[in-house]
Amino acid sequence: MTKTKMLRPRALALACATLLAASAAHAGGEVEVLHWWTSGGEAKAAAQLKLMMQKKGDTWKDFAVAGGGGDAAMTVLKSRVVSGNPPTAAQIKGPSIQEWAQEGVLTNLDDVAGPEHWDSLLPSVVSNIMKYQGHYVAVPVNVHRVNWLWANPEAFKKAGATVPTTWDQFFVAADKLKKAGIIPLAHGGQPWQDFTVFEDVVLGVGGADFYQKAMVKLDQGALTSPTMEKVLTTYKRVHSYIDKNAPGRDWNLATAMLIKGEAGMQLMGDWAKGEWVAAGKVPGKDVVCVAAPGSAKDFTFNVDSFAMFKIKNPANEQAQRDLASSIMSPEFQELFNLYKGSIPVRLGMNMDKFDACAKQSSRDFVADSKSGTLVPSIAHGMAVPAAVSGAIQDAVSQFWNTDSMSVKTAMANIAAAAKAN
Ligand code: GAL
Repeated sequence: MTKTKMLRPRALALACATLLAASAAHAGGEVEVLHWWTSGGEAKAAAQLKLMMQKKGDTWKDFAVAGGGGDAAMTVLKSRVVSGNPPTAAQIKGPSIQEWAQEGVLTNLDDVAGPEHWDSLLPSVVSNIMKYQGHYVAVPVNVHRVNWLWANPEAFKKAGATVPTTWDQFFVAADKLKKAGIIPLAHGGQPWQDFTVFEDVVLGVGGADFYQKAMVKLDQGALTSPTMEKVLTTYKRVHSYIDKNAPGRDWNLATAMLIKGEAGMQLMGDWAKGEWVAAGKVPGKDVVCVAAPGSAKDFTFNVDSFAMFKIKNPANEQAQRDLASSIMSPEFQELFNLYKGSIPVRLGMNMDKFDACAKQSSRDFVADSKSGTLVPSIAHGMAVPAAVSGAIQDAVSQFWNTDSMSVKTAMANIAAAAKAN
């Protein structure tokens, strides 16, 4: 006789009720998640979150809006929220989290964050960004380092060039690559990519203090200084080492040029490493990672995060809590970041499974937080509100793409963009 058959009627009724309750708890809800992770490496990373949610009994409704850097995704998000139909969660970063919270559309996550001790699991530079008026409204996924230079060692060998650590060395290497018939710098000509290269040059030429003054405080003195003039001159010189097909190219296609050895270098955040991993290559061996020229002692951070919206359906609200909790779990933080190219944002994680570049990033993140050389990426929405960075990005990108524009004009345009917004 089975155990069930031995149960008395009352006990049986109780067992059934418990079973029903348990299945209701696992019936799950739906999470609709807006993100822009559509490249090979990004999609693999995002799939880990979907799997984790499905294991919890929740349904994942993918709301992917293609376009590196997320400009297109943010436009779509605005129209959804304005029409009163926000997704459960959206990839929103930096000061934009505060702007959305001010609109009153984000939900308070303290009931998850408190019991799970997020305050002690996150660096304060990150938890501060995730909170609005002291309450968690967003959950962080990772830490990307933006100031990286990726080099193809085979291409460098062929060209007899050395991987550069200063801007002077960068131009020497670029000339050698060019002579060997290799495109020196793989670049995708989209405004956010032009801006990513620009912030690397600001940091490498000006240093972390100058970067803080110019790109975070938007100090007019710094923005119109001789240092900025040098930054812009260097930046424009970099432009002469990209290929003529760069305009409009997606960043991951530029990374593919590097993987194939058609190009020698790429200046890009470590999501580029996700593409190498997806192609079965070993970071640190098949691709060399060094800090962008002149910035070995600095770290431009870009923390991806999901802001959670106020939603009405209680089952979906529970699923939203599951999502927040899953993102902060050590299992997710490890798995996701192994695919994404970034490092876990959760403190005290074991880095054994990570590659050499991630290990370096992790060490540098800690060291740079202590030395005051950890700076927020302006090109990736971490430094200033979106309207300001958008205006500066336009001015920078226009300079990059206009042969006839002088450094003086560009400097005036950038300073004006920073002032007007
Ligand atoms: C960044 C984002 C990264 C990566 C990149 C390219 O802004 O933080 O996670 O996806 O865009 O799409």
